[in-house]
Amino acid sequence: MMSKFMEWVDARFPATKMWEDHLSKYYAPKNFNFFYFFGSLALLVLVNQILTGIWLTMSFTPSAEEAFASVEYIMRDVEFGWLIRYLHSTGASAFFVVVYLHMFRGLLYGSYQKPRELVWIFGMLIYLCLMAEAFMGYLLPWGQMSYWGAQVIISLFGAIPVIGDDLTQWIRGDYLISGITLNRFFALHVIALPIVLLGLVVLHILALHEVGSNNPDGVDIKKKKDENGIPLDGIAFHPYYTVKDIVGVVVFLFVFCAVVFFFPEMGGYFLEKPNFEEANALKTPAHIAPVWYFTPFYAILRAVPDKLLGVIAMGAAIAVLFVLPWLDRSPVKSMRYKGWLSKIWLLVFCVSFVILGVLGVLAPTPGRTLLSQICTALYFAYFILMPFYTRMEKTKPVPERVTG
Ligand code: HEM
Repeated sequence: MMSKFMEWVDARFPATKMWEDHLSKYYAPKNFNFFYFFGSLALLVLVNQILTGIWLTMSFTPSAEEAFASVEYIMRDVEFGWLIRYLHSTGASAFFVVVYLHMFRGLLYGSYQKPRELVWIFGMLIYLCLMAEAFMGYLLPWGQMSYWGAQVIISLFGAIPVIGDDLTQWIRGDYLISGITLNRFFALHVIALPIVLLGLVVLHILALHEVGSNNPDGVDIKKKKDENGIPLDGIAFHPYYTVKDIVGVVVFLFVFCAVVFFFPEMGGYFLEKPNFEEANALKTPAHIAPVWYFTPFYAILRAVPDKLLGVIAMGAAIAVLFVLPWLDRSPVKSMRYKGWLSKIWLLVFCVSFVILGVLGVLAPTPGRTLLSQICTALYFAYFILMPFYTRMEKTKPVPERVTG
């Protein structure tokens, strides 16, 4: 019965072909490790955000007069509204935790190198889209931090010469952040950006499946195939990696649910304290800080004394990641076979990024500003010096086959 039905479908739509190409006959390297959980986890969080987002939209009112109260209504009166909201707000932070670890894996194993440049570029476009999505979503509850955070970030565009002031007005749709801004951010947050995000995720995975996955050894498994043309070091994604990924999903859900049910505010890092007070255009909070996932870039912005140069530095900090595939000149992909210079620079980069993240939360003092300047310099040095240290250093020989 079922096979007759599938025959009927397959004569009209490539259902079985797609299942085979992307799952049951997609041969992935057999040595995936912990870091390979985060792609499927990012998909899981994406689905969580879309589903909880749809249900939040059912009870949220996108107007300056009612937005704050409608969130309180969701929290107190809507059946399980509190759960839907906490799943969405925790999901936003979880998205960045997962995506940062996913990107770190790329840096560790050289997954951005030839032939996966487009996988990386699509990934970076996803990252940009995700930042825009999170930024716009944060204005919607119309709390003090929503309002003043958006105020600080949008006013940055004012630093651009000639068009700056007109541009900020165009983004806000008003002379100051108002219900009009809230309305357009709502439209972009619930419709426009999710569509772009979904499209980019499809492109990201199509690009990956065209060239095949990298692995912790950076060995090209397509070079050694058996008589049927199947890579000797490859295993079918389904069932082997679907089962492995379920383990990741279960562990992730334990941690995620612990946060949702016991620490949804995460000490003010996932839901900031001033956001429990309604937006007030006449009352600036004593200390404005973005949510944790933006703070490394916010610290880079503040490290530069000039406003325009600060904005340029912040933009460059993200833009430079796009050209990463062309900065790495190493003959090997994985950190396992790169030299000690690459290892040290990756460590320096990660430590600087974390320190910048911490500094971005704290109020500036002269000492902290100096530290953020040092970390900003190290952040950029990692990229600027990469063409030199990846070429200079001695690499280890890469094995023919993956190492278990
Ligand atoms: C919504 C966000 C994202 C989703 C759903 C997603 C999904 C995936 C999936 C399912 C894979 C294959 C499984 C795996 O290797 O873990 C993958 C691989 C990859 N992703 Fe993403 N991704 C996202 C964001 C990003 C970002 C922001 C970047 C980097 C800028 C990135 C770079 C990569 C790279 C380089 C690979 C290939 C890794 C390898 O083969 O070693 N992804 N992604």
